[in-house]
Amino acid sequence: MEPNWQAQFIAPSFALEPAGPAPYFRREFTVDERPERATLHVTALGVVEPHLNGARVGDEVLAPGWTSYHHRLPVSVHDVTEQILTGANAVGAVVGEGWAVGEVGYSRQREYWADRPALFLRLSLEYPDRTEVIGTGTDFTCATGAVLAHSLFHGETHDARREPGGWDLPGFDDGSWTAAEPVDWDLDTLFVRTAEPIRRTAELAPAAITTSPSGRTIVDFGQNLSGRVRLRVDGSPGETVTVRHAEILTGGELDTRSLRSVAATDRYRMRGDGPEEWEPRFTVHGFRYAEIEGPFETATAVAVHSDMPRTGWFEASNELLNRLHANTVWSMRGNFVGLPTDCPQRDERLGWTGDINAFGPTAVFLYDTRGVLGSWLADVAAEQREQGFVPKFVPYLESYPSPSTALWSDVVVSLPWAMYREYGDSAILRDAYPSMTAFIRDTAETLNADGLRDSGFQYGDWLDPDAPGDDPAGGKADRYLVANAYLARTAREAAQIAAILGEQADADEFGALADRVRTAFRRAYLTEDGALSEESAAAYALALSFGLFEPDERQRAGERLASLVADAGYTISTGFAGTPWVLPALSDTGQLEAAYRLLLQTECPSFLYPIAQGATTIWERWDAIRPDGTMHPAAMTSFNHYALGAAVDWLHRTVGGLSPIEPGYRRMRIAPKPGGDLTSADLRLCTVHGDVRVSWRLDGGQVSIEATVPEGTEAVVELPLNGGTEEVAAGRHSWSYAAAQPA
Ligand code: BGC
Repeated sequence: MEPNWQAQFIAPSFALEPAGPAPYFRREFTVDERPERATLHVTALGVVEPHLNGARVGDEVLAPGWTSYHHRLPVSVHDVTEQILTGANAVGAVVGEGWAVGEVGYSRQREYWADRPALFLRLSLEYPDRTEVIGTGTDFTCATGAVLAHSLFHGETHDARREPGGWDLPGFDDGSWTAAEPVDWDLDTLFVRTAEPIRRTAELAPAAITTSPSGRTIVDFGQNLSGRVRLRVDGSPGETVTVRHAEILTGGELDTRSLRSVAATDRYRMRGDGPEEWEPRFTVHGFRYAEIEGPFETATAVAVHSDMPRTGWFEASNELLNRLHANTVWSMRGNFVGLPTDCPQRDERLGWTGDINAFGPTAVFLYDTRGVLGSWLADVAAEQREQGFVPKFVPYLESYPSPSTALWSDVVVSLPWAMYREYGDSAILRDAYPSMTAFIRDTAETLNADGLRDSGFQYGDWLDPDAPGDDPAGGKADRYLVANAYLARTAREAAQIAAILGEQADADEFGALADRVRTAFRRAYLTEDGALSEESAAAYALALSFGLFEPDERQRAGERLASLVADAGYTISTGFAGTPWVLPALSDTGQLEAAYRLLLQTECPSFLYPIAQGATTIWERWDAIRPDGTMHPAAMTSFNHYALGAAVDWLHRTVGGLSPIEPGYRRMRIAPKPGGDLTSADLRLCTVHGDVRVSWRLDGGQVSIEATVPEGTEAVVELPLNGGTEEVAAGRHSWSYAAAQPA
């Protein structure tokens, strides 16, 4: 049906102030008999709230979300059969600037895709013998209303007295409204949305309402999130409530430094005729605290993000660890607002490729990401085709090429690979395959005669805590060592993927590349006695995790990594590239105790230090709040950045102990490795085959394990503390035995 939309994009014929009033659109139509089915297709250049016969349609917010609009613009579909009336009907929408028109990214560009909000709507009425279509066109009329100002970054101003009451009902007098005008837009970009929509997913009551030293009212919602505040007020006409948002307080006052230029300020002017409830519709903020000026009765934080199904849970006998896990989940929620972003609060919020590449394996465990990441990867592929390189963030906004960088550009291989391993669907690989092959071949061309990357920009071990404040890429690990280690891994993954897809010639080509880079890596970075010539925890972690040591070198390399980790006092000495790999590299080389000491450290910088500081999300840098209580001075200091939460993958795979042997967990490994002072862990994962549960308990010298393995799957169970290995079929299994060695 998609080619014959019988509708066009429309915009108001009057001028709109940038970030000013949001246009309302409406049209009436008559229905003689009730249709068998009525379907509303709707999207916008901007963000759209559709209405029909006096009510908003559906529960999506900020639709259509953010995609690479000039390639792919999703259309939402709503069944509105029940809302159609015999006789007169009215359909319409309010459209905000959203990402297509409003400010986006750190350069705060405006009007990247369109110069004003435009609506596209198609209502089809299906009768036994015909289908009638009401499509947007010049017979729609427009006006402005209660939304006086709005911006995703800066907030919304709503004057309830200006709402054209009844505008979405038939019979409304729209004599003062003006005809819409058509907007040129390629309808081939439209497709029915495949990702879950953005919705309101949780409501949080205030944890505390206090008065700040300067006398302001501060509401603490107890959780950093992406969303907005819903107010209940009861006041006189025009009375105003202003809500300013922030992630932290300093000296008891709202501290908005982590937002950079973002105003994150909403204003509501009351109708004044009794209790009123209001929540902004065309903005989203990253916040935990709100400073509220003006009279209000209640304030509720409403979390807003892509409504993906939750699939993975983990809990252990250590509350700090549980909070680390919960913080990771909240950072994922806050950063999946339509697409995977770096942060939800400041003037950035971009689809940074490196962040999701690092976080991918954790993300695919926690939620079913096939919809959101599948859609985003399609955008990546479209932009890569257009640009000739993998953009560093997608949608891309720059006019210059992104360099090919480790962890960022190779997202086109490693993210589909992580998704395939988790969900077992080879269509994910097939869809991403052209992106992968283009990336691998382009990168192979940049290698020097030795087979190494040795020039051009690299992010290195981004945000190594020891990197100079003004050079986050300048960490301890040599940036080309990082780049070459990642390339060896990515080329190997690409070879495996090609083989799975039956592309044997490609598999041979990529396998040969992986061998070549590995050999070159060893020649360049390994000493004769099997140590790394440039030693850092990140370098050892990557070389161990990516198979760059020979089997007989691994134990020594693991020992060397453990001693580097010990030298750092079991604090974190790695950044985006290294951090996800240190814990697995330690536990895979017999250094479990060092891994647990690193995991459970609370001194700064460490996984648990922010938790002792009250963090409710993962921070961009471990010391975003420094031990003296001050905020890190760098402009890049977000309190909601999932990238470093990638380390939580180890809680799932090693502490909880579940990993796929065959993609989609048709065959799985259950191999929990207790350690530290943990006495129990419980893990649950809804795989594509059904629920897997793993629990272990230590009680004195007694170990008990329970595992539930779904129908159609089997598990290799490695019972910890020398309980041996067993193969089990579907069903519920339990073991109890005396530990043959102390935990
Ligand atoms: C973002 C990152 C991103 C990085 C790379 C930052 O501003 O927040 O997480 O990956 O830039 O340049």
